[in-house]
Amino acid sequence: MSDNRIGRFGDYGGRYVPEALVAALEELDEQRSKAMHDPGFLGELAQLHRSYTGRPSIITEVPRFAEHCGGARVVLKREDLNHTGSHKINNVLGQALLTKRMGKRRVIAETGAGQHGVATATAAALLGLECVVYMGRVDTERQALNVARMRLLGAEVVPVDHGSRTLKDAVNEAFRDWVTHVDHTHYVLGTVTGPYPFPEMVRDFHRIIGVEARQQMLDEIGRLPDAVCACVGGGSNAMGIFHRFIDDPDVRLIGLEGGGEGVDSGRHASRFSGQATPGVLHGAFTYVLQDDDGQTIESHSVSAGLDYPSVGPEHAYLKDIGRAEYHPVTDDEAMEAFRLLAQTEGILPAIESSHALAGAMKVGRELGPDGLVLVNLSGRGDKDVDSAARWFGLLPDEEEQS
Ligand SMILES: Cc1ncc(COP(=O)(O)O)c(C=O)c1O
Repeated sequence: MSDNRIGRFGDYGGRYVPEALVAALEELDEQRSKAMHDPGFLGELAQLHRSYTGRPSIITEVPRFAEHCGGARVVLKREDLNHTGSHKINNVLGQALLTKRMGKRRVIAETGAGQHGVATATAAALLGLECVVYMGRVDTERQALNVARMRLLGAEVVPVDHGSRTLKDAVNEAFRDWVTHVDHTHYVLGTVTGPYPFPEMVRDFHRIIGVEARQQMLDEIGRLPDAVCACVGGGSNAMGIFHRFIDDPDVRLIGLEGGGEGVDSGRHASRFSGQATPGVLHGAFTYVLQDDDGQTIESHSVSAGLDYPSVGPEHAYLKDIGRAEYHPVTDDEAMEAFRLLAQTEGILPAIESSHALAGAMKVGRELGPDGLVLVNLSGRGDKDVDSAARWFGLLPDEEEQS
């Protein structure tokens, strides 16, 4: 194991990896530090965001949805409008450009909901890189449309049959591949977890969400929000929007986790509701759902992107110092928020993002009519149409049966 005091947020973070990966992580750290100060790199990334991603993403006020949020005003940051349908592209384009800078020709990725895999396959096609994506077998089934999208983009999708056959197992498999092919392969990790420098680097590529949103709130709404709500799987969209607001003490930062069937049911992905304890998973020291022997407990969420037993170390730190708060949202609550946004505003959200919307409904009721809530709409619901239609019993054969 390598030096794990490096890259800490308070006690959390570090670099718990086999020696075989240390050189690659050091090279990555050096290259991304140089790149983040290189006007050439920053200019190329900004140009791609303008002409390919579609940035800046807009903000949209949603008054009819807000009627269900205690009358508080609600504004959405529309990461769902990005090319490939979610915030994930912000990070992937940055890492794909770094892959080129490091002279590597192959990228690998893990994916849960498929959005990170689709973004990686897209960037690989754009930049001419080989691409392999690992995905738990269960997730290939619930996000089948995204599997097809990745294959159409020229990526190889490898279903993973170990463990719970979800995101955690896909990450394990991606690390295994990386150890073997590290000389010519970069692992495009999809969230703010993993060994240093991933949590910091991925956050920095997503920081643009909060930088844009904060300015848009001031310019278009006239003031900062009282609360920023974002769903938390590994935590990348949340860190991206939170970071620019950390120095605004009056803005509450609220992360919404997959509460599954309820935290008391044991079938959930809620790391911050007294269920998880500090431990090491996937190269970082952070909150992990684990038993007394340190064995990882399997998580559950209706949302593939939130179904993960660990969380980015910077979130663990923000939670401990009290700067951010985290609450579980059950599957039922998230799906109700999904339905409401669709039917009051004509926007189909990703099921992940629906957790943030459900959070806004709760915090809006706390704040009342003077409140102003900013929600990070991290992705669109195209990938979830089949799951949502099944959830609500809307498919023709199900209607006939009922
Ligand atoms: C649309 C969307 N939102 C949120 C997430 C959760 O990831 P993170 O917590 O890293 O933003 C995912 C993950 O796949 C996603 O696809």
